[in-house]
Amino acid sequence: MLSEDVHSFARPSEAVATHLDLNIDVDFGNKVLSGQAAYQIENKTGTEEIVFDTRGLQIEQAFVGDDMEPTSFRLGTPDEVLGQPLFVKIKPDTRRVTIKYRTSPEAAALQWLNPQQTAGKQHPFLFTQSQAILARTWIPIQDSPGIRITYSATVQVPAELLAVMSASNPTEKNPRGVYNFEMRQPIPSYLMALSVGDLTFREIGPQTGIYAEPATIEAAAYEFAEMDKMLVAAEKIYGKYRWDRYDLLVLPPSFPFGGMENPRLTFVTPTVLAKDRSLTSLIAHELAHSWSGNLVTNGTWNDFWLNEGFTVYFERRIMEELYGKEYADMLQVLGYQDLRHTLEELGADSPDTRLKLDLEGRDPDDGLTDIAYEKGNFFLQHIEKAVGRERFDAFVNKYFATYAFQSTYTDTFLNFLRSELIQGDAALAEKINIEGWVYTPGLPQDFVAPSSDRFAKVAETFRSWQKGVPAEKLATQGWSSHEWLHFIRMLPEDMTQQQLTELDKAFHFTTSGNNEVLAAWFLHTIRNNYASADTALQAFLTTVGRRKFLVPLYKQLIKTPQGKEKALAIYAKARPNYHAVATVTLDELLK
Ligand code: BES
Ligand code: ZN
Repeated sequence: MLSEDVHSFARPSEAVATHLDLNIDVDFGNKVLSGQAAYQIENKTGTEEIVFDTRGLQIEQAFVGDDMEPTSFRLGTPDEVLGQPLFVKIKPDTRRVTIKYRTSPEAAALQWLNPQQTAGKQHPFLFTQSQAILARTWIPIQDSPGIRITYSATVQVPAELLAVMSASNPTEKNPRGVYNFEMRQPIPSYLMALSVGDLTFREIGPQTGIYAEPATIEAAAYEFAEMDKMLVAAEKIYGKYRWDRYDLLVLPPSFPFGGMENPRLTFVTPTVLAKDRSLTSLIAHELAHSWSGNLVTNGTWNDFWLNEGFTVYFERRIMEELYGKEYADMLQVLGYQDLRHTLEELGADSPDTRLKLDLEGRDPDDGLTDIAYEKGNFFLQHIEKAVGRERFDAFVNKYFATYAFQSTYTDTFLNFLRSELIQGDAALAEKINIEGWVYTPGLPQDFVAPSSDRFAKVAETFRSWQKGVPAEKLATQGWSSHEWLHFIRMLPEDMTQQQLTELDKAFHFTTSGNNEVLAAWFLHTIRNNYASADTALQAFLTTVGRRKFLVPLYKQLIKTPQGKEKALAIYAKARPNYHAVATVTLDELLK
């Protein structure tokens, strides 16, 4: 079943790619990938052309068949967001299409880092970020999450660097700099991924390990020591892990996301290396995508909540399994606060606050918000509460098993929900309230906000500070970074210099090694002109490229004319360190 994807030019019901043999050269000097993408294709209707997505690619030649017979091709009219369709002439019996191409140095999926931007400072570094529709900027591909391919790849890199992909991976460099990869499970295009750098590998468990620069590997191995336990916990809930190995790649700080669930090899920001394993729910999240997203995939970006809502739900189940309900409850409340914030920003009656989105004519990246994550999560929790955990788990297990290695649409899920769980029970249907959750903006009337016992204690402590107990006397012993984050989020918008100084002196927020704490604290220091945090803020903004941190901080800065001046000055310096995914958003914000 293929539903129309408004973000791809491909016409998979006519001719569809099923397997890719990628053969590329990585040229750091020119910031170019070049080589060929050879596809195994299925011509379903006997059509005379197959359509691929491209954006900014230079297409050099096209061939058909195993004996590489040259064939004609043309590029369609460019669209700023979608790029250009590539039409390649084929025959009804064509089974193989080969495209010779090169990328542009501006390819949005690629970030080329100079040595200075890495931890080791000696070697350049490259990584890709294909989600949502950026795979087409580094591979001519049918770039729709409704289409799956297996792939093999040969990648040539400078001899002193290692290449890794979302596939079977080497664990050691080889002197020729040639690496071979294979992904035997069919995946959607947005999970195509490559990284090249001075990388080393460290085993964590029998099935898990970490790739990182030598300067980072030690800290990463400590931080993520529990990844094997997470895998065990996840399998206990939703069944066998279907991708053989699960490894992490720790990237330089300019990585624009917290994590990206590239199959077999999650890409992760180094900003979660807090030295106390406090931010590892992010790993649980990316691991959870091995089921929700990678195994059963949102068929279009309008169905994004199927990926992220399920994943947030699953992430918190994994955390509950490992650290208990009290711990998971804190994550739920923080997530709920994020949801409230997003609802406020978008407006609770904005169509973008529905689970089922309508992103036609827009860059999907603009519409993919916390709504999919948190409202999606709370919808699934709501169903779980209505039928009980046991029944709900059996249902979700069956859903993953039924649609394994396929794409699903909001309707696919809802139909499955009706036939497997609701089964004509009118009272249950009313309680679940599909219409209210999926197709209506905002949150349904009967929504029950989550609560956390540990946060209730934080709130008590916070109130005693408000009533005059000095910060250094507050009962904060044993607080996790989540409790600190909650505390910081409770602080009033307007504070005096004296209050800020008092808190900082007692709790050292400005010098915190926890990036979540830092980012939340900076919102207050900016708003209240707390100059003592300026240097730290500037250092943060010029090194960290994670969009989730950058956007709120720049937004806070530009609220005043002086702040805007500061923001522009910092941005001028920091921009070269950011990935295109972040600069697209920030250019718009700061223009
Ligand atoms: N798949 C997403 C990242 C993504 C989403 C990239 C949409 C491009 C478009 C990833 O799984 C994710 O959700 N990352 C979060 C972390 C998570 C713990 C919420 C992030 O990067 O902040
Ligand atoms: Zn995710």
